[in-house]
Amino acid sequence: MLDFDYYNPTHIVFGENRIAELDKLIAADAKVMVTFGGQSAKKYGTIDKVIAALGSRDVIEFSGIEANPQFDTLIKAANMAKENKIDFLLAVGGGSVMDGTKFIALAAKAEAEDYASLLSHGFAPVPATEALALGCIATLPATGSEMNMGGVITLEHQKRPFMSPLVFPKFSLLDPELTKTLPKEQIANGVADAFIHVLEQYLTFPVDARIQDRFSEGVLQTLIEIGPVTYKDNDDLNARKNFIWSATNALNGAIGVGVPQDWSTHMIGHELTALFDIAHGRTLAIIIPSLLRERKEKKHAKLVQFAERVWGITEGTAEEKINKAIDQTEAFFNSLDIITNLNHYGIDDAGIDKVIANLENVGMTALSESGDLTLDIVRKILIAAK
Ligand code: NZQ
Ligand code: ZN
Repeated sequence: MLDFDYYNPTHIVFGENRIAELDKLIAADAKVMVTFGGQSAKKYGTIDKVIAALGSRDVIEFSGIEANPQFDTLIKAANMAKENKIDFLLAVGGGSVMDGTKFIALAAKAEAEDYASLLSHGFAPVPATEALALGCIATLPATGSEMNMGGVITLEHQKRPFMSPLVFPKFSLLDPELTKTLPKEQIANGVADAFIHVLEQYLTFPVDARIQDRFSEGVLQTLIEIGPVTYKDNDDLNARKNFIWSATNALNGAIGVGVPQDWSTHMIGHELTALFDIAHGRTLAIIIPSLLRERKEKKHAKLVQFAERVWGITEGTAEEKINKAIDQTEAFFNSLDIITNLNHYGIDDAGIDKVIANLENVGMTALSESGDLTLDIVRKILIAAK
């Protein structure tokens, strides 16, 4: 196992009908800005419940944080937070609203000329020293943003990740009831996103990290069990609770400590979203089967372990087990009605060229757990995903 530091201060408040507890979670004298997306949080009554729970506190609302949140929108929100001397941000929404609110938290404490420095640092923390405190009411299980210190912002048709320990939510409220209004395809996207968060931390090379491996395998098996149930049956609350907690654990840092990580699928997928507006989880499900087939040799030992322990494939040669495990993984995404080839989304060779150019622009030219996944290999993966 590799050396690591592990720090996660987010207080999780899990369960149904707990919005009233906001009153205890946020200081009585806080000036609060409630942030949300297009319309779902308002339409389904969550914002009304939140405002009621905040009681006599000074509260302002900022709506309109887009899916794949835009830099300019978030800067408007940060300016509004500054003007109104806000001291607590409350995000109500999915990954986009939670990520966007993390960025607002940083920008609200920065000078305008430093806004750009809050992006573009890849996986290294941004050079910020202060952020507004924030909390989340997570309405879409998928990204893990509710319990991590990262976010992804869109600027000029490029996705820009950022990280800072200052933006760990103080608390996140995970209420399964709030997720029942999600359209089915968002459930499918969320299952795929969570599953692939685990794969990008698990399917690398062995370092004898037994807890992380078994924890990862447990999350994957749980998603295989309850993903399709949640997709088909809106009323199975137990399945839904397990889905929510799987998604949080897939990217709250616990399974990723002390192990090599490969975020290639995410970096390629991000550009598919930025250029062609395909939902995040779907982009990953398109890429990862081809990536795993291309990288079979590099990931050999962990792929055999994945086949045996996650999919229960014990018959055949190592090569046969690996092939079957990758096929079953792709079939799992297809069973959630996610189509896993680029042609379906209208992406041709010219589109592939654009993805490569975008990756080059943001310096993503040496991806993977070993830094040897070059843009030539990305092209091969994309061609195989057609
Ligand atoms: O805008 P509204 O009207 O709220 O609609 C949203 C949005 O259109 C809707 N929605 C959310 N909760 C709902 C609901 N509709 C009905 N009922 C509910 N309860 O769902 C749509 C998609 O929401 P979004 O937040 O965009 O989806 P998701 O949670 O998948 O987040 C995707 C974003 O997270 C980033 C992605 O790049 C993308 O920008 N990621 C963040 C990560 C992180 N912070 O660690 C890691 C991920 O890998 C990912 O990159
Ligand atoms: Zn993701």
